[in-house]
Amino acid sequence: MAPADKLIVVLGATGIQGGSVARLYATLPGWRIRGITRDPTKASCAPLHEAGVELVAADLDDVASLDRAFEGANAIFAVTEQGRKPNEIAMDLEIQQGKNIIHAAAKHLHTLDRLIVSTLSDSEKWSGGQIKWNLHFDGKAKYTQYLKDKFPDLAKKTSYVQMGSYLSNWRAFPFLAPAKQADGSFVHVSSGSPNAKLTPYVDPPNDTGYFVKALVEHQDAGLTMLGFCELISTAEYVAIWSKTLGVKARTEPLNMEVLKSAGLPEFLLQELGETSAYSSTWGWDGGDPEVKHPKELGVEIKKLTKVAEWVKKEDWSAIL
Ligand SMILES: NC(=O)c1ccc[n+]([C@@H]2O[C@H](COP(=O)([O-])OP(=O)(O)OC[C@H]3O[C@@H](n4cnc5c(N)ncnc54)[C@H](OP(=O)(O)O)[C@@H]3O)[C@@H](O)[C@H]2O)c1
Repeated sequence: MAPADKLIVVLGATGIQGGSVARLYATLPGWRIRGITRDPTKASCAPLHEAGVELVAADLDDVASLDRAFEGANAIFAVTEQGRKPNEIAMDLEIQQGKNIIHAAAKHLHTLDRLIVSTLSDSEKWSGGQIKWNLHFDGKAKYTQYLKDKFPDLAKKTSYVQMGSYLSNWRAFPFLAPAKQADGSFVHVSSGSPNAKLTPYVDPPNDTGYFVKALVEHQDAGLTMLGFCELISTAEYVAIWSKTLGVKARTEPLNMEVLKSAGLPEFLLQELGETSAYSSTWGWDGGDPEVKHPKELGVEIKKLTKVAEWVKKEDWSAIL
């Protein structure tokens, strides 16, 4: 590490998005990396430590700890954790975490060149008030707007990435997993609308770092990127899945009654339904004309995941 190296501070370094950023920056010359976790002694820190990442304890709920963690930062990658609590409480907590990051980052304008915020679009705004319960989008949109309104000097140094739909969501949310039918074929859930907007699929453990690198290196700040590796319909995704695995598959609309009888809590049903309605009707980015695609902002497109390759590598043994 040379004394002149720039410092990037990566929130959520032990997680999916932040881990991608920390791993990519560990391969780039001219940078040192400070990864933030609540517990630098946990096992998931070991590979980061071995890759040369400095691990520092801080908590998104504690603005003073973030202030200390941002000391000397030239770039910061910020991601909040929405959690798995009833959604209104989760949104309030997430907005507060976002504000904590903003308040702490604003104290470091003397060293900071670029803050990159992982965010999502304002679904209530872009749907003209029709979507009210897509709170894991709207919480992020709210603190993003707070930054733009209240911290103009920080906003001049900030760009945003609206992360797309994780390809791995079928593992995190088992009710989204392809379901095997009696005849051996599979059913994937979809919004059910043949005119649905395309889905921005993303493989965040690989792709996030490349999005962040492009936004850090871009001469302009104030940019918003839709973070995806492939922008395709659910039907196209299912066709790739089916061809790659050599099994028959089709899509069926999300059936809320089935999910309800399977015991999904009301708040999760509500959020799932509205996320699906919003992204299929207005699009993941709400149709915001300011949102740019990775190739428009200098992302190394060849480095991003190909959906077919991801399907091939993924372990589907639990459902096949
Ligand atoms: N699933 C999707 O399709 C999708 C799409 C777009 C956006 N998102 C958003 O992605 C976000 C999650 O990002 P991810 O997938 O990278 O998360 P993740 O893999 O679950 O990791 C969460 C990270 O946040 C850190 N963290 C959690 N609470 C913290 C706290 N109080 N203080 C400091 N660090 C804390 C954790 O660190 P430690 O535990 O080590 O402290 C961990 O590194 C959510 O906000 C979600 O809404 C998801």
